[in-house]
Amino acid sequence: MRIVLVGPPGAGKGTQAAYLAENLSIPHISTGDLFRANIGQGTRLGQKAQEYMRAGQLVPDEITIGMAKDRMEQPDAAEGFLLDGFPRNIAQAEALDGILSEAGTALNAVLDLEVPEDEVVKRIAGRRMCRNDSGHIFHVQYNPPKTEGVCDVCGGELYQREDDHEDTVRKRLEVYHTETEPIIDYYKAQGLVVTISALGKVAEVTQRAMEALGRGP
Ligand code: AP5
Ligand code: ZN
Repeated sequence: MRIVLVGPPGAGKGTQAAYLAENLSIPHISTGDLFRANIGQGTRLGQKAQEYMRAGQLVPDEITIGMAKDRMEQPDAAEGFLLDGFPRNIAQAEALDGILSEAGTALNAVLDLEVPEDEVVKRIAGRRMCRNDSGHIFHVQYNPPKTEGVCDVCGGELYQREDDHEDTVRKRLEVYHTETEPIIDYYKAQGLVVTISALGKVAEVTQRAMEALGRGP
């Protein structure tokens, strides 16, 4: 299956992607995680991306599209993938269509996570991420680790993302509305969008998502 996950910052895309990718046996491809890995490794791509991420703005398409394409062309993505955070504007959606049609494939679905804005602000404010694995995501209140500051899964250090501060979050939400939301209509025109509520427990949202993708119990 080839799926795009879309939703505002803090909707729970990364949290859900970890479970969905496992259930569907496809790799989770997050452009945000790829950028953060590059920043951590001090690559040139990471250095370029960092200034945009710090400001809550989109990293330019010429950097992002090439990076996403390289990742989708890895052998583990040959049979499908779950894209999280890409595409993020119409130009990226058109580029993705081109990449897929060149490869003789197409998307199966676009899963749209709907969450009210006051809830995403609360989710982002309390988020803590694991330094070892970007799939280990906690929340100080909604999903607290057993020991403060320590990942339950691997014992790694938990940290707060640099772009999770109030001003940057406001900017990221604005960018989501102006640049990313239009891709939902773009994909609606292709009949690909399934919208679910991302409120409720993490496992409930996963179940809702699997049902919406036609993979329910
Ligand atoms: P990216 O990393 O993609 O961030 P984002 O889209 O802003 O999304 P988040 O990671 O903030 O949220 P999420 O929806 O994954 O939520 P999570 O599961 O963590 O992008 C960061 C930056 O990179 C961008 O601003 C841009 O600069 C750049 N970038 C990335 N892709 C790009 C692209 N294609 N083009 C250009 N630039 C790009 O959950 C949030 C919190 O809520 C967690 O604490 C979690 O524990 C909690 N939570 C999750 N589910 C629930 C639930 N059901 N109930 C209660 N709490 C929950
Ligand atoms: Zn961990």
